[in-house]
Amino acid sequence: MKSLLILGRQPALGLAELESLYGAPALVSLGDQAVIVDVEASTIPFYRLGGATKLCSVIHELDTTDWRKIEKFLMQAAPKHAEQLPEGKLTLGLSVQGFTVNIRQLEATGLNLKKVIRRSGRSVRLVPNKELELNTAQVHHNKLTSPMGWELVIITDGDRTVIGQTVAVQDIASYTYRDRERPKRDARVGMLPPKLAQILVNLAVGPLAEVPEPAGQVILDPFCGTGVLLQEAALMGYTPYGTDLEQRMIDYSATNLDWLNQQYRLDLPADFARLAKGDATNLVWEQPVHYVAGETYLGKPFTSAPAAEALAQTVADCNLIIKKFLRNIAGQIPSGTRFCLAIPAWATPNGQNKFKLLPLVDQISDLGYNRVSFEHAGDDELIYFRPDQYVARQLLVIIKQ
Ligand SMILES: C[S@@+](CC[C@H](N)C(=O)[O-])C[C@H]1O[C@@H](n2cnc3c(N)ncnc32)[C@H](O)[C@@H]1O
Repeated sequence: MKSLLILGRQPALGLAELESLYGAPALVSLGDQAVIVDVEASTIPFYRLGGATKLCSVIHELDTTDWRKIEKFLMQAAPKHAEQLPEGKLTLGLSVQGFTVNIRQLEATGLNLKKVIRRSGRSVRLVPNKELELNTAQVHHNKLTSPMGWELVIITDGDRTVIGQTVAVQDIASYTYRDRERPKRDARVGMLPPKLAQILVNLAVGPLAEVPEPAGQVILDPFCGTGVLLQEAALMGYTPYGTDLEQRMIDYSATNLDWLNQQYRLDLPADFARLAKGDATNLVWEQPVHYVAGETYLGKPFTSAPAAEALAQTVADCNLIIKKFLRNIAGQIPSGTRFCLAIPAWATPNGQNKFKLLPLVDQISDLGYNRVSFEHAGDDELIYFRPDQYVARQLLVIIKQ
């Protein structure tokens, strides 16, 4: 049984995350916004994926992209599926990607499905579509992943069609809660979104089939700030180890981690995290460190397009600090240690999706590391950015030689 995942706002990040965890051969892209993974949905730890919004199990693959034929197939399959569900009222939802159907046609298919299911003696409610795809809030609100819910996700890439049944959606409320409600926040050091922190951890850890279970595995964030990455690592079951130049940040991380431990009832001992003040360019870290993940120093937080000189100065400052850090830690960790660092990149005015990158990106092997590239996402696509921001984050995955 295969899985179908709907990717988030920047699909390349979700593809790299899944490739990191399951390997390139397990993935087949389906259109621009979805991917099939050759792994059973129930084995995917969906809660720890930052780059996918919906998890479905594939129920059928069809050689056609003709909507009428797909509808015909669904009309035959739906009553049989309904028979297997517990007694009671069924809630049906439909989401499509890649078809030229409009909402009215989709609604007509939904009503036809409702009719055939009713004819088989079941009562059923259809969730109305405002868009061609139901969003995660609608799936959640209508309990479409519960035993009495049934969301069909129908996606074509122009050659074939894959039909999936949704089994989980991203828990937006929980992401928002741990982002906004943690007791210590600091706009000056930036706001690493929890979903991006999860992607960083998943890119740092690598293939799940080849690495130990999280318990007892230490993830170091040497620029930990208020501890967003440490929080996400702890929720996944890793041992968080944070260091930062400023004592205030260490205190913030400690408060935030205690809060997380209580709010999420993790039942971890009071000293579950390792935290220490230190300059990443010369600190000696306590061993063991199994993975390194974090958002480095990002330089000046520009709120408008920076002047050329100011930008050149920030690029030079960040490049120097991060290079010194990479040289410093290289001598302390075993070869094969994998890192994922979010380093700064700057939106340039000359065209969309063009970024000024740090010079060190081209010197990775001279610094004693090998760059990890992905088959399903280009190096230049691994840049997290929001159109209203000037400072983007390039995700750099490297392995100590
Ligand atoms: C962009 S912030 C990281 C924010 C973090 N992801 C969070 O959850 O709040 C960068 C952090 O690097 C720290 N920093 C700057 N230079 C450093 C250095 N040389 N060594 C260690 N930390 C440093 C800053 O104090 C700041 O907290």
